[in-house]
Parts: sequence; structure tokens; C-alpha cells
Amino acid sequence: MANDSGFRWRTVAEVGLVSAVIYFLLGTPGLPSNLIFSSSSTDKTVSTSQVKVESLVYPEKNIECKSHNYDIHVLSTAPLIIYIDGFLSNDESEHLIDMSQANWQTSTVFNSGVETTDSTVRKSEKALIPRDHTVQCIEQRALAIQGWPRETFIERLWTQRYNETGHYAHHYDWATASRTSRRVSTFMVYVHADCTGGGTNFPRVSMPRDARWCEFVECGGDGDGDGGEEGVTFKARKGAAVFWRNFDEEGRGYRETIHAGLPVTSGTKIGLNIWSWFQAGHSVD
Ligand SMILES: *[C@@H]1O[C@H](CO)[C@@H](O)[C@H](O)[C@H]1NC(C)=O
Repeated sequence: MANDSGFRWRTVAEVGLVSAVIYFLLGTPGLPSNLIFSSSSTDKTVSTSQVKVESLVYPEKNIECKSHNYDIHVLSTAPLIIYIDGFLSNDESEHLIDMSQANWQTSTVFNSGVETTDSTVRKSEKALIPRDHTVQCIEQRALAIQGWPRETFIERLWTQRYNETGHYAHHYDWATASRTSRRVSTFMVYVHADCTGGGTNFPRVSMPRDARWCEFVECGGDGDGDGGEEGVTFKARKGAAVFWRNFDEEGRGYRETIHAGLPVTSGTKIGLNIWSWFQAGHSVD
């Protein structure tokens, strides 16, 4: 890479980082004054991934959230993949759908770092979700399930609407990862699932043996939209979520996490992505 292009990226990255700090301050009212969100001065390698930092948030520190029950089923431990039934309450799902209504826009994909639309890869609409109390409690729940990992933030939440034929081809959620900065985990949440098809397929993950899993994953047969896919296909069930870690402890991406949103064959699916982002040297205290 030429020197000057490296320099340009660095500038963009720094602008992104500064926006992050500003956003962070604006988006989290009532925070105590000892908030720390500062870059480590030894961090010399500012990578393009820091452009993503502009959308990182953290729930209000002492936020009080209603208690909420969900059921956890571990499908795999390496990588960690968990099915969470009842991750969202009905009210939370309806609230997310209401807030999305005015904001739907065509989803994009990144191709060699360039944002484009390509309906052969991804056909859906997305909506940015305002961060009210309910939404911050959902962010908080996502962090709590993971054990409040250090130096880890939530990317602003977006819902995704898939009408009939809507889909997302096999991909990784790795984004632009580095040793100090990466999308550590994903929650794929089904906010609305009045549809056939639309399951989430992991071709490199083995089917669980116990038949009780058939409530949550497509079992044999040519289920709607299953299409005899390889591996495991999680059913789109309202309120449920699939959680997985994208990287091992050394920061290597798990190849098993490649996944697709299978085509919706009728009706509409609305999904919610909750991505946790590790940013070394940044913390909230
Ligand atoms: C998807 O369906 C909704 C209503 O069911 C409609 O308002 C919207 O325009 C549709 N989106 C696309 C891209 O066709």
C-alpha cells in the first residue's frame, strides 16, 4: 500500500473515532462524568476497521431493566453457538417493528470495502433503531449474556426486513477484523416471523442429535425454505435469537460461522442484528 493512501485511511479512521466519541456522548444521556472512552496512546496501528467505530454504543451505566426470562440451548461450544428462545418479549418485538416503520431503506453489501446493493447477495431492507430505554435494555441483555466482556461495545442496532424472495447469501460477519478491533459476536434475532422459509443456515455446523432440537432447527424432510441445505438451519421463530462467537481467543475467525438467511418463500421476516465489537484500549468505567 502506498504511503499516502495509508495516511488517508488513518485520517478517515480518526474522524470515525472522533464521531464515535461524540455519538457516544450524545447517545447516552445521564452518564456519570467519569466516563472514559479514550484511545490508548500506544495503539499505532489505526486500521480501516476503526471507521466502523462510529456506530459503537454502550447502554447507560445504571440502566434499570425489567427482568426478562429466556431459554438457552447450547448447540456448539467451539465455536460457541446458542439458541435463545424468548430473547425478546412480544412487546419488545412490536416496539422494534413500530420504530422501524418510517426508516426502511435498501440493504447494502460491502464489496472490497465499497458499499453497494446486490440483490443476488442480499435482498432486504434495513432500518436504524433509535436508542430509547427499551432498546438500551436489549443492548444490555446482549452484553449480560456474554458476561459483560471488557473493551466490548454494541454496534447501533438495525432491523432487517425480508419480504418474499428476500435473502442473504452465505457470508461471515467478520467485517474488517484485526488483533485489536473486531466484531466478536452476533445475535441474529427474529423480531417478526410471519413467513415460510427465512431460516438461518450454517452449512459447516453439524446437526444436533437430540430430536428435541427439531423445535428450533429444520429436521430432515423438505421443510419450507429448508431446501435440503447442508448443516444446520435454525427456524425463524418470533422472539428467538441465534447467538454465536465469530472469533476464537486468538482472534482467528471461526470458519464454521459462515451462514445465510435463506429465502423467505412467503410472508415477511424481520430480523435484528446485535453485533458486539471488541475495541482494544477503549472502555467505559
Ligand atoms: C415489503 O412488504 C411491505 C409490506 O408488506 C411493503 O410495504 C414493502 O414495500 C415491501 N418491500 C419491498 C422492497 O418490496
